[in-house]
Amino acid sequence: MESDVREPAIRTIMMPRDTNPLGCIFGGHIVSLIDQAAVQCAINVANRNFVTKLIKDVEFIEPVNVGDVVTFYGKVTSVGRTSVCVRIDVEAQHMKGAMPPKSVTSAELVLVAVDDEGKPIPVKN
Ligand SMILES: CC(C)(COP(=O)(O)OP(=O)(O)OC[C@H]1O[C@@H](n2cnc3c(N)ncnc32)[C@H](O)[C@@H]1OP(=O)(O)O)[C@@H](O)C(=O)NCCC(=O)NCCS
Repeated sequence: MESDVREPAIRTIMMPRDTNPLGCIFGGHIVSLIDQAAVQCAINVANRNFVTKLIKDVEFIEPVNVGDVVTFYGKVTSVGRTSVCVRIDVEAQHMKGAMPPKSVTSAELVLVAVDDEGKPIPVKN
């Protein structure tokens, strides 16, 4: 089932502790939040435990800066038997909000519903 809804799964302010040596936000921090946002979207489809199978097509479009308010929008693109595919689009806006939000990163993820032993289970009963 594909959804047209673009959900703001996470919105957070970027902190100095998450910078790289150049002073902008470390890409791995953004990917970690993308992963968490995608799990939120999958849980909205079905209340299961999900693990990340695949993160692909990660594109860092523009740098993210300390103090930016960053929003992770998720869209469920398909639901399989045991997997959910999610697209995440990340937008950043300076905390004082003088400029409109800009697109900074995007990615596609596959999450798999698992049981207590970590084995794939149907997303829906
Ligand atoms: C996720 C995991 C349980 C899947 O096991 P698996 O043996 O690949 O399971 P399956 O082959 O049955 O595939 C499960 C689903 O993933 C999909 N899938 C598997 N490999 C895929 C790939 N490379 N790309 C896209 N989808 C894939 C399958 O199509 C299937 O979806 P469907 O049932 O909707 O058709 C296992 O790979 C695992 O435990 N991986 C580690 C997860 C992890 O630690 N993640 C990081 C922390 S959350």
